[in-house]
Amino acid sequence: MDMTGKVAMITGASRGIGAAAARRFAKAGAKVALVARSAEAVADLAGEIGGDQAVAIPCDISRYWEVEHAVRNCVTAFGRIDVLINNAGVIEPIAHMAEADPESWGQVIDINLKGVFHGMRAVLPEMLEQGGGTVLTIGSGAAHGPVEAWSHYCASKAGALMLTRMADKENRERGIRALSLSPGTVATQMQREIKASGVNPISRLDWSDHIPPEWVAEALLWMCSDAADSYLGDEISLRDPEIRGKVGLS
Ligand SMILES: NC(=O)c1ccc[n+]([C@@H]2O[C@H](COP(=O)([O-])OP(=O)(O)OC[C@H]3O[C@@H](n4cnc5c(N)ncnc54)[C@H](OP(=O)(O)O)[C@@H]3O)[C@@H](O)[C@H]2O)c1
Repeated sequence: MDMTGKVAMITGASRGIGAAAARRFAKAGAKVALVARSAEAVADLAGEIGGDQAVAIPCDISRYWEVEHAVRNCVTAFGRIDVLINNAGVIEPIAHMAEADPESWGQVIDINLKGVFHGMRAVLPEMLEQGGGTVLTIGSGAAHGPVEAWSHYCASKAGALMLTRMADKENRERGIRALSLSPGTVATQMQREIKASGVNPISRLDWSDHIPPEWVAEALLWMCSDAADSYLGDEISLRDPEIRGKVGLS
């Protein structure tokens, strides 16, 4: 998959899946805009990838004006935006509903759900004017069933999946490709936090059960190709052997 001449903005690019996606998209020739709150981490990664191919944009996706500013910075740096990867997300604080702090619960919704809307809202006008673009969102199996002590996370991921469906419904005919990817469990900081909670069966998985973030990056790259067009408006699962085969992971 050659991404030369394409520009991708990746949220949550400071580590984990987002950082792996940034490296993979850059290797495929794309210019990448790296968005996260940790300014130093995205600056380091932009330095590693190379100044002419990457730009670091410190941004908290829970604030719309910051996301709008990030998209403007990306377009100023590279002249366009072809791909948005809505990847940034959080799982803490993990808590049963009867004990959850309402303020903290709402902050997870602000990042995992409103942050996805903010990304879509900010890039869609730009992409529509360009004649098209791809909007990928990292979903989760948690969107489809309850997981103990994850009411914030499950609700946010279910809502984010609906945003992919909405983006597709309203914009497919105008060239927007919106898709969601449920990666399965991935060896990142988020799984360390889940393990430390010790609350549900996912926290008791062995570290070797998780896939590397590079596999998710490979799937995201594949989702930018026409080969994924039959899944527009939908969520694909990286647990699905057929999808792994199509991505080239098996
Ligand atoms: N790991 C898994 O097993 C798994 C499974 C299913 C889905 N996912 C999803 O995959 C995505 C990436 O997670 P990961 O596993 O790579 O976790 P991670 O290593 O904890 O990375 C999360 C990323 O999100 C960024 N982020 C968090 N809040 C943000 C905010 N308000 N504004 C901007 N960036 C923010 C973090 O950067 P800063 O802290 O620097 O802002 C970090 O770069 C998430 O959406 C997660 O829900 C993960």
